[in-house]
Amino acid sequence: MIKYLGSKRVLVPVLGQIAACAYDEGARTALDLFSGTTRVAQEFKRRGFMTTACDIASYSEVLAQCYIATDADEVDSAELETILQELSALPGKRGYFTKTFCEDSRYFQEKNGKRIDAIRDTIEADYKTHPYYPILLTSLMLAADRVDSTTGLQMAYLKEYAQRSYNDLELRVPELISGTGQALRGDALELASQIGHFDLAYLDPPYNQHRYFTNYHIWETLIRWDAPEHYGKACKRLDARDNDTKSPFNYKKQMATSLEKVIREVDASTLVVSYNNESWVSAEQIEDWLRNKGYAAVQTFDFDFKRYVGAQIGIYNKEGKKVGKVDHLNNIEHIIVAGTQELVDAVCSRINRDKDER
Ligand SMILES: C[S@@+](CC[C@H](N)C(=O)[O-])C[C@H]1O[C@@H](n2cnc3c(N)ncnc32)[C@H](O)[C@@H]1O
Repeated sequence: MIKYLGSKRVLVPVLGQIAACAYDEGARTALDLFSGTTRVAQEFKRRGFMTTACDIASYSEVLAQCYIATDADEVDSAELETILQELSALPGKRGYFTKTFCEDSRYFQEKNGKRIDAIRDTIEADYKTHPYYPILLTSLMLAADRVDSTTGLQMAYLKEYAQRSYNDLELRVPELISGTGQALRGDALELASQIGHFDLAYLDPPYNQHRYFTNYHIWETLIRWDAPEHYGKACKRLDARDNDTKSPFNYKKQMATSLEKVIREVDASTLVVSYNNESWVSAEQIEDWLRNKGYAAVQTFDFDFKRYVGAQIGIYNKEGKKVGKVDHLNNIEHIIVAGTQELVDAVCSRINRDKDER
């Protein structure tokens, strides 16, 4: 999966455990409203939920169309591999991508930039209406990510080329998942009240000024394939300056009211919210919003992944009551679970059991 700021890679097993508890209590539909890489939505889908993934980013929508909306059982893998082999064999050609991201800036080596240009042009010309279109785009995005020369953000490229950028671009078949789901692109503030009821919903919004539109402008351009005018050394899209590419979640004055609105409007029996230490809102504030919404039980779980992956800090007693304090905040991930008392108790015992087994 692509390198992504705030990706919940390490939290996925925990979110999977929470989903399993909800599933045991009859939950069957799930929503990941800020789905980014779609890692979490993928976990829900793998666990048998009819999953909906939403995000405002074009590249995230394509990832969701590939991993969430596409049913692996409907894909002819031999045909897909043949297409990827044909695309891989295309001779490179200098186009917008090479000029912008290999010459005007140095995000990729020229040999790879030219192949990306050739492959992306062909996907657009020959596969635009093909059901594998999002799969091909995903394969290309992941391949490009493996040979980029950044620290994982596209606000800047490295002074010296990263070692991996010397490798040849390699298209691989994405790991598709059986079952169906839904991919939506849009503003969570508008979608939350329109997309209906979910048994389980997960919210992982941006919590501070770091804009995904600018941090991942190359993926936006690779997916939109609209050759935008660009500015600055980082060659960011000119439309990054437009208001409609800015998210209220990246503005200190709007973040809290925006999250409160989404929490209020999303219709979910169980609501799970990720919370970040660098956030402009506190965990207590989020807990209050969840209680005001009427959830019978609301509990925050803290995880320290640096010390031992997946372990919950030992601060809860058997009844799920907080009995200790977190003494250091680095590398700590927080998840707030709101739902029925039975569900929150089940989550608590499952997480504690996992901790004991580790
Ligand atoms: C913290 S990331 C989510 C990461 C994701 N959980 C993962 O594991 O990859 C926040 C996401 O919110 C999206 N986003 C920002 N503003 C949004 C908005 N107004 N509506 C919907 N999505 C938005 C960003 O594009 C970004 O993908």
